[in-house]
Amino acid sequence: MAQGKRVLVTGAGGFIGHHLTRRLVADGHWVRGADIKYPEYESTHAQSFEVLDLRRWSDCLQATREIDEVYNLAANTGGIGFIETNKAEITRDNSLINLHMLEAARFNEVRRFLFTSSASVYPGYRQDTPDAAPLAEEHAYPADAEDGYGWEKLSAERLCRHYAEDYGLETRVVRLHNIFGPLGTFEGGCEKSPAAFCRKIAMAADNDSIEVWGDGKQTRSYCYIDDCVEGICRLMRSDYGEPINLGQDRLISVDELVDMVAAAAEKSVKKEYVASKPQGVRGRNSDNSRLRNVLGWVPQTSLERGIEITYRWIREQLETRDAASE
Ligand SMILES: NC(=O)c1ccc[n+]([C@@H]2O[C@H](COP(=O)([O-])OP(=O)(O)OC[C@H]3O[C@@H](n4cnc5c(N)ncnc54)[C@H](O)[C@@H]3O)[C@@H](O)[C@H]2O)c1
Repeated sequence: MAQGKRVLVTGAGGFIGHHLTRRLVADGHWVRGADIKYPEYESTHAQSFEVLDLRRWSDCLQATREIDEVYNLAANTGGIGFIETNKAEITRDNSLINLHMLEAARFNEVRRFLFTSSASVYPGYRQDTPDAAPLAEEHAYPADAEDGYGWEKLSAERLCRHYAEDYGLETRVVRLHNIFGPLGTFEGGCEKSPAAFCRKIAMAADNDSIEVWGDGKQTRSYCYIDDCVEGICRLMRSDYGEPINLGQDRLISVDELVDMVAAAAEKSVKKEYVASKPQGVRGRNSDNSRLRNVLGWVPQTSLERGIEITYRWIREQLETRDAASE
């Protein structure tokens, strides 16, 4: 691993950005974190942290000054409920962030630029059954991405390619699939399903009912945060410029996910299905062939282990808060 670079992590106040910052500092890099907010659950590990609004050109110029490499994670994002009901806001904010960040990186002569894309770039027509085949990178076209969030990610992926071809900026594009773990949002509407179920089950008494959006038969794969950070670091150090999946390829239903969280909590819960709530595509899994071939590595943490750690962390957060309010 090359050492001692001057690195910018945008979105360093968020879930993945915070974990990534800690890893990059531990690897010997000098890290500037940038975000519109500070990390929520613990202080940043970055040597420098700037509160900036990266929708603004001037703030992107400031963030990228004297930087060798950019990890561009900043995005207006959330769980399916948020993404399906805020398309204009999400597309506007993320387009501004990605356009300005790429151009500022070029202007300030950044050498390498990693963009966190998403499994939501994949077409709906390949994800309409719970046993849908794993999604390989070439399946993104012909495009029919998730409306709003997914189309913006796909368009930013292409912009990375244009900047690489036209300006020589070395771009890396990683398509993340459902990342979860401690220090992730677990309430407020922007949390994703593993964190939401951990919270609901931590708050439930034994044999209580918990709400499950949809019919519970929809399927996903879930990847633990440590594997996500490892994959991002390996990709950045590689010479691979095409989009690449980063996720687990173990497909499970939402029902099974709930059962797994309940097992970690040593509780029994009843599922109350809410058909009217957004549930996204019917089935989504990651084809990890390219990841294996290019990086010689795939995620290592079992889902059971990741859920156990995440459940424990969320339960502790809730207990600490309850104790403070007594
Ligand atoms: N977590 C996942 O499962 C997942 C899946 C696919 C893709 N991604 C992508 O990975 C990246 C990181 O996701 P995350 O889960 O850590 O989300 P997150 O919401 O925890 O982090 C995103 C951060 O971006 C910041 N941000 C938003 N608008 C900003 C602005 N105008 N200026 C500066 N900062 C701004 C937010 O404050 C937040 O801290 C995002 O690009 C997301 O789209 C995540």
